[in-house]
Amino acid sequence: MQIISVMSQKGGAGKSTLTRQLSTAAAEDGPAFIIDRDVQATASKWWDRRQTLTPAPERPELFELATGSLAAEIAEARAADGVLFVDTAPAVTEREAEAARVADLVIVPVRPSGDDLEAVGDTLAMLRRLERRAVIVVNCAKTVGRATEARAALSVYPVPVCPTHLADRTVYQDAHTEGRSVLEMRGAAARQAADELRAVWHWIRGQINE
Ligand SMILES: Nc1ncnc2c1ncn2[C@@H]1O[C@H](COP(=O)(O)OP(=O)(O)OP(=O)(O)O)[C@@H](O)[C@H]1O
Ligand SMILES: [Mg+2]
Repeated sequence: MQIISVMSQKGGAGKSTLTRQLSTAAAEDGPAFIIDRDVQATASKWWDRRQTLTPAPERPELFELATGSLAAEIAEARAADGVLFVDTAPAVTEREAEAARVADLVIVPVRPSGDDLEAVGDTLAMLRRLERRAVIVVNCAKTVGRATEARAALSVYPVPVCPTHLADRTVYQDAHTEGRSVLEMRGAAARQAADELRAVWHWIRGQINE
């Protein structure tokens, strides 16, 4: 099992969006799982809505945690095939550090706004202290130009930035309301979202296997 934690101290950067959507893209390759470590339970509430679809999609599966340490609870799962995404809260406390320590790779979503670009430094500093491999994904860009500018600004950090970004699209929000992936939605906007989502996932898969 490959373990990917999705982290950013900044609220609303897109952690739960990437967890939900990327886990469905990873599910096209094989088993996929999510763990929700945020008390807001955004990812697990989406998963609950997903179970009411007919038929309920088999993947991703929700990995429910008891109260033990994250590392201990997923130790057994490590031997199995697949990818496990860990959604985290907007913080850099010991709880998030624990999610970083178990990860083979940490995805840091960043919105292309000044405040978000500035705030990402704290998250990356924590990951550097923990000697974790991190990658950045620009999320919710209103234009290609904004995403390109953001990638240029992020190049000051010694962390790979995904060459594809996720655009600001209401289809992500609609998919979340319905418990779906954009891969399961209809229409032109969904097809564009699906293309960018698969491109991001394939790049991340390449980073893990590097
Ligand atoms: N690419 C996108 N296009 C449109 N809306 C988006 C996109 N990414 C995120 N959003 C919306 O922005 C809001 C915040 O996204 P999300 O919940 O994924 O962030 P988060 O980092 O998990 O937030 P928190 O820090 O509160 O956990 C949500 O309403 C989500 O639907
Ligand atoms: Mg969230």
